[in-house]
Amino acid sequence: MLNVALPKGRLGEKVYRMFEASGFGCPEVLGDSRKLVFENEKTGVRYFWVKPGDVAAYVERGAADVGVAGKDIIDEYRPDVYELLDLKTGKCRMCVAARKDFRDNPDITLRVATKFSNIASAYYSKIGREIDVIHLNGSIELAPVLGMSDVIVDIVETGTTLRENGLEVRETIMDISARLIANKASFEFKKDAVLKVLEGLRRQTEGTDD
Ligand code: PRP
Repeated sequence: MLNVALPKGRLGEKVYRMFEASGFGCPEVLGDSRKLVFENEKTGVRYFWVKPGDVAAYVERGAADVGVAGKDIIDEYRPDVYELLDLKTGKCRMCVAARKDFRDNPDITLRVATKFSNIASAYYSKIGREIDVIHLNGSIELAPVLGMSDVIVDIVETGTTLRENGLEVRETIMDISARLIANKASFEFKKDAVLKVLEGLRRQTEGTDD
């Protein structure tokens, strides 16, 4: 059995469709039950839904042989896994955003609210700016609105959340998309199955930009 960790949510459903079209379908995966594990002996695959931010941990520790994680998660947690393919979906950007009326004073430590502390620290250290990281777990946009931080480092997809909260993008740190990752040992010991998945998915990403 090839164990596949899928990120719960809209991206996961889209990505599952890609696995299905590659010949790794599995009944009921997209049903609305509360079940977390689904397997299809015929196609030799077992899927499980996990929080998007946890996919890399499951794959790194071998509970999953392969999984789909955003480039943001991979850069933030730097798991010891192989990154096999850009799935060219789940596209968004990691940005610095601030209130429209915020004027930066480079002589003062910048207060940065984020879920991505490592990405934020690496970015500001590269440009030589001293920061105070405020690590939050969600609704990051609230921090500058309430005056708790000067800026945020967060994911921007449509820009709606920023707009609706009076914030704007100041810098783009990197482009993000979903990646197929593999456990290093599984890549050796289940090579045939991993390569079959990789090839199937690669065929579908060719020529597509979303
Ligand atoms: C993400 C991100 C932004 C929002 C951006 O949050 O943190 O808040 O999506 O999307 P948009 O540009 O299309 O508005 P998510 O929905 O993952 O929830 P969170 O607040 O728990 O991080």
